[in-house]
Amino acid sequence: MVDTVEDKTTFYSKAERYWQEVPPTVDGMLGGYGSISSVDINGSRKFLQKFLGEGKGKTGTGCALDCGAGIGRITKRLLLPLFRTVDLVDVTQEFLDKAKSYLGEEAQRVENYFCCGLQDFKPEPGRYDVIWIQWVIGHLTDDHLVEFLRRCRGGLRQDGLIVVKDNVAYEGVILDEVDSSVCRDLPLVRTLAQRAGLQIVCEERQENFPEEIYQVHTLALR
Ligand SMILES: C[S@@+](CC[C@H](N)C(=O)[O-])C[C@H]1O[C@@H](n2cnc3c(N)ncnc32)[C@H](O)[C@@H]1O
Repeated sequence: MVDTVEDKTTFYSKAERYWQEVPPTVDGMLGGYGSISSVDINGSRKFLQKFLGEGKGKTGTGCALDCGAGIGRITKRLLLPLFRTVDLVDVTQEFLDKAKSYLGEEAQRVENYFCCGLQDFKPEPGRYDVIWIQWVIGHLTDDHLVEFLRRCRGGLRQDGLIVVKDNVAYEGVILDEVDSSVCRDLPLVRTLAQRAGLQIVCEERQENFPEEIYQVHTLALR
């Protein structure tokens, strides 16, 4: 679908242009579905808390990375309440600028705002307890996603965790020409994670989302 260098350049630049026109609001981040944000965050918290805490094999709560963070919707309500510090990475500078005010007082605990495409982003080795990647993998080509996940693996601390939460297609790959993204089916997402050398340690479907949108699945990888 996006095989040639030219295709890839167009795929990424079209998406960048799309997001530059989107208002820096929760509704903007969720394509008009701002009302599902609380259900989403509550589901994510329940999922993540299974891995956090004291004891052998538990994931630490030092530092998290929010990938495709936008204005910091997830950082604000999920990550900052659970982690000592958080870094954000997104390709849209305007969203990161907005995050600084949207996050309020707690923005003090954000250490880095990286403006970068995930296809180019290199997490600092061994820095993160959790790398959260939500509603953004469709903006990467298969090969770039595999390479990015592999770099994320190198970015984890001992017992760290990568979480991918995203739309999944019923079957195959569906291209969205408007925002220049793809929606993959679950077997393909699993295959790409495995190609990155990651194991799926937990997988869940988000419940209580509207009927008319794609199913959303959360995968914990390490
Ligand atoms: C659907 S929004 C999701 C935002 C956030 N994850 C959330 O759930 O609230 C997608 C975000 O991905 C960002 N994005 C799109 N393509 C990207 C890329 N190649 N690398 C990094 N961020 C990207 C957009 O700027 C936007 O902030």
